[in-house]
Amino acid sequence: MGTNGVAVAGSTAETNGMALIACGSALPAISVSNQQLSERVDTSDEWIRTRTGIGARRVAGPEESLTLLATQAARAALAHAGWGPEDLDLILLATSSPDDLFGTAPRVQGALGATNAVAFDLTAACSGFLFALITAGQYLRSGTMRRALVIGADQLSRWVDWNDRTTCVLFGDGAAAVAVEACPAGENGLLAFRMRSDGSRHGCLTLAQTAEQQPVLSGVTAQLGGFSPIRMNGQEVYKFAVREVPAVLNELLEATGTAAADLNWLLLHQANQRILDAVADRFAIPQERVLSNLADYGNTSAATIPLMLDEAVKDGRVRPGDLIASSGFGAGLSWGGALLRWAGPRG
Ligand code: COA
Repeated sequence: MGTNGVAVAGSTAETNGMALIACGSALPAISVSNQQLSERVDTSDEWIRTRTGIGARRVAGPEESLTLLATQAARAALAHAGWGPEDLDLILLATSSPDDLFGTAPRVQGALGATNAVAFDLTAACSGFLFALITAGQYLRSGTMRRALVIGADQLSRWVDWNDRTTCVLFGDGAAAVAVEACPAGENGLLAFRMRSDGSRHGCLTLAQTAEQQPVLSGVTAQLGGFSPIRMNGQEVYKFAVREVPAVLNELLEATGTAAADLNWLLLHQANQRILDAVADRFAIPQERVLSNLADYGNTSAATIPLMLDEAVKDGRVRPGDLIASSGFGAGLSWGGALLRWAGPRG
């Protein structure tokens, strides 16, 4: 790899796999409990826990920008990988809540001092991390790039309507990063993947532009930039998730000849415990192999999958060689899945 995203190599026998090496995460300091929310909107700890499994969520303060959290998560992943920032060829930041609509990834690249890396954002809502991981995999497996950081980071607390009890109880803020590296095909950790979109159903979950107009010249009216808070048809999104996630995971298992019993972990986008339970039931995967941290963090959008992975790697649940079935789903509508093998840092 040359500097700043300039491809120099072609695919070789040594470099058509992608290994998942290390991860790291960063969370805002303030945790908001269900009880606290019930002081603002007509809800209760009992309702939120029963319907979603969520007990608390982190809310980023004004100083805790997306750039800051993503950079902290990236530094932790680099430290665990044993890499310096200059080792990176690529930084992909999956987010729907950037600090800057022109892109937040370059700010992270600048803060890290990753002078050899090209950095850009990728937006696919709660599917964003998985889509970014798969995208990074294409550069690494083709031999175009060697080392990448895939970051999932969101701050939907800045975009929910805090008076709307149907959405403000669900979302939280966080950032997490995974360090991935080109490796021999035999060590490939991205065993199979699927990505899907259905824009005809985009109205189920939106963070859409406002429609305020500003006359700028005689006969010329421009729209004033700005966004409305998140709007969601919860029941439609729920039905979509419990239909499409098992279907995409089933495709992956069939394509790779993998039995559900062979999976060490089910690592789904953390949106709702009932969705996790329904998918696990569909494949008869026991609770102890279903990763969930909804109780502590709620739905952190693009951050949920790497945040959960980081927690499970740190506490020793996920170990080198473990087989993980992962699926992300959300606004777009978008969804996807990947069959992954965790490698861990190389000796
Ligand atoms: N506290 C108390 N009551 C609430 C509430 C809250 N936070 N939010 C909604 N309600 C009420 C509704 O107003 C409704 O009241 P009504 O019967 O008087 O009209 C009642 O609870 C049932 O609402 P409903 O929407 O049918 O609940 P549900 O069982 O579908 O649960 C969700 C709502 C949002 C938890 C559920 O639909 C869900 O999880 N959907 C998926 C959402 C998701 O994961 N989005 C992100 C995807 S990335």
